[in-house]
Amino acid sequence: MEALYEGKAKRLWATEDSQVLRMEFKNDATAFNGEKKAQFDNKGRLNNTISTLIYGQLEKAGIPTHFVRQIDDTNVLVRKVDIIMIEVIVRNVSAGSFCKRTGIEEGRAFGQPVIEFSIKSDALGDPLVNDDYIRELELASADDLVFLRAAALKVNDFLSQLFSRAGLRLVDFKLEFGRLTDGSGTIVLADEISPDGCRLWDLKTGEKMDKDRFRRDLGGVMEAYEEVLKRLKELS
Ligand code: TMP
Ligand code: ASP
Repeated sequence: MEALYEGKAKRLWATEDSQVLRMEFKNDATAFNGEKKAQFDNKGRLNNTISTLIYGQLEKAGIPTHFVRQIDDTNVLVRKVDIIMIEVIVRNVSAGSFCKRTGIEEGRAFGQPVIEFSIKSDALGDPLVNDDYIRELELASADDLVFLRAAALKVNDFLSQLFSRAGLRLVDFKLEFGRLTDGSGTIVLADEISPDGCRLWDLKTGEKMDKDRFRRDLGGVMEAYEEVLKRLKELS
């Protein structure tokens, strides 16, 4: 059987249920639009377990997601969606491309969260776009954007508290949303939430506990992911 879709860190497979897919987490890590590549033992398991834990909590908090259930270490069942081709990024503290774009130093806490949209396209390098671009490219309607912003802020409030209880500062993260293919058009949170797509700093030491360890060759990448999982598990 061939995968329906293969991304940089995951594969999607069909199941017997036409509305449900199997999402497989790979051990592959990439950064800078796939320019930098590596494989890490256990990465698939760690991200799947972290993401499953978080999606379970989000569902409990009344935030609709694609999550159905985890089936094993590296596989999870998810509802089939048409992915909205926009990456929704939420920032609480300056880091990464925000610093590069503005010249502002890393670590400035924002008065309010910063939300930005980029086109989900490796070929284009996920370019930052505004609402007018999104309208003209027909990636989402104005109403959809209102919904996406509100959902992103709600997820941010929830995750900031969750990670803070785990002794971690949620610096920024990326979300993807999709529309259910059951005819309802309902938008749900899709993709994954793991240290691959979040910046997490230890609240006490400021140590980076996310994919920046790989991007910046800091070492101890999987040790950091393992620690994030351990702390989240201790909460539940
Ligand atoms: P950035 O500072 O590089 O724009 O990244 C902001 C956050 O979004 C960071 O936590 C990493 C995450 N992210 C992804 O998950 N995938 C991506 O393709 C990009 C560009 C960022
Ligand atoms: N996710 C993107 C990549 O794999 C960018 C990044 O996370 O740095 O290339």
